[in-house]
Amino acid sequence: MDRIRIVGGAKLNGTIPISGAKNAALPLMIASLLTDRTVTLENLPRLADVSQLVRILSNHGVDYSIDGRRQGEGSEAGQTVHMTAREIVDTTAPYELVSRMRASFWVIAPLLARCGEARVSLPGGCAIGTRPVDLLLMALEKLGGSIEIEGGYAVAKAPKGLRGAEITFPKVTVGGTHVALMAAALAQGTTVLHNAAREPEVIDLAELLNKMGAKITGAGQSTVEITGVARLNGAKHRVLPDRIEAGTYAMAVAMTGGDVLLEGAQAHDFQAALDVLALSGATVESTNEGVRVSRNGGPILPVDVETAPFPAFPTDLQAQFMALMTRANGVSRITETIFENRFMHVQELARFGARIKLDGDSAVVEGVPVLKGAPVMATDLRASASLVIAALAAEGETMIQRVYHLDRGFEALERKLSLCGAEVERISAGG
Ligand code: UD1
Repeated sequence: MDRIRIVGGAKLNGTIPISGAKNAALPLMIASLLTDRTVTLENLPRLADVSQLVRILSNHGVDYSIDGRRQGEGSEAGQTVHMTAREIVDTTAPYELVSRMRASFWVIAPLLARCGEARVSLPGGCAIGTRPVDLLLMALEKLGGSIEIEGGYAVAKAPKGLRGAEITFPKVTVGGTHVALMAAALAQGTTVLHNAAREPEVIDLAELLNKMGAKITGAGQSTVEITGVARLNGAKHRVLPDRIEAGTYAMAVAMTGGDVLLEGAQAHDFQAALDVLALSGATVESTNEGVRVSRNGGPILPVDVETAPFPAFPTDLQAQFMALMTRANGVSRITETIFENRFMHVQELARFGARIKLDGDSAVVEGVPVLKGAPVMATDLRASASLVIAALAAEGETMIQRVYHLDRGFEALERKLSLCGAEVERISAGG
């Protein structure tokens, strides 16, 4: 298994190109199941989760091809891929494939909408708390699907097709909103979603679906209206920039000091996080090329943060922000309201000498003047990023084990950081 070795202390200076968003790429790719025509996605990131989803979609009959790199294009340029589900050859998504990535459960929506049936393994346990799919299934039932749980599978049927409906989510769910959008796009009649997720990735999916011929209005707001159509066409779409990747590097710069342009990042996609960074003493500037973050000399100030659905501070940046606060000049309180149990990074951050106490759904972080490098273990995707941030500022060497978690969601992390002056290297298994 690969490891990442970081020697802390260097400031970050330069430009980091921001990749296409993993959390947009996954639903966009899944949407290719809705049509027998070709869906072309540009700026698709090279990530382990993307490769895993390709395997799952191929099993349903999606043909997948990648354009060669154009002359002069760097290896960090996103890929252009073409996906065509001319025929759905299998409506079952088996446990071996689905259990490795929760978002793959979302294939249930296009399979049910297009084929009238789907048999999808329920996702297994997850390191960041129970993440049920009850609201996703509720949405499909409202649309006229019948759902049975059999042998660990959700078996969905709608032999006469889906029908538009009013769907009210009791809790904001990104996955639930994606599933409802995809299913309602091919349902008969009009669907109205209430309390829909407003995340930029939801807007990105709705934009692709509309290019494919869907009739969706209001994506990005709490109420979304979808008028179903009989069939969808192919389309071409560029994956939006990854706000979580951009936010992670923004926190890294706030931690180490320096000055970095996050090329391609869109400030409005993670404004709440940028506002918090500014309060912590970093300088944040939105430019035509992206977002520029710097901190020169001043202390890191403590800021209290509470995660909540978009447009509030994202749970996917909570661990990274906690890493920053371990070096703050005072005490901060970080409250996690989306996922219980999303504090596994606390124990690993303690290995650097961080002082963090858990208090229910909050972590109370008492900033310390120095962190010290240590051997640590990545536990989940975003938690791993927090270890990288701590390591970049720690004295001495840190060795991060289980970096496959990072590879799920951060494209070329060690290259992007080294280009800005960090001492980071990947040690390949056996190397
Ligand atoms: C997506 C993101 C993930 C992010 C999360 C919240 C992707 C691939 N993943 O995950 O990175 O952390 O949004 O922004 O885009 N819930 C239920 N029942 C359900 C579904 C969800 O109770 O049927 C709960 C969850 O347990 C959680 C909350 O709703 O407490 C939000 O979850 P949700 O927005 O659905 O997260 P995901 O879509 O799985």
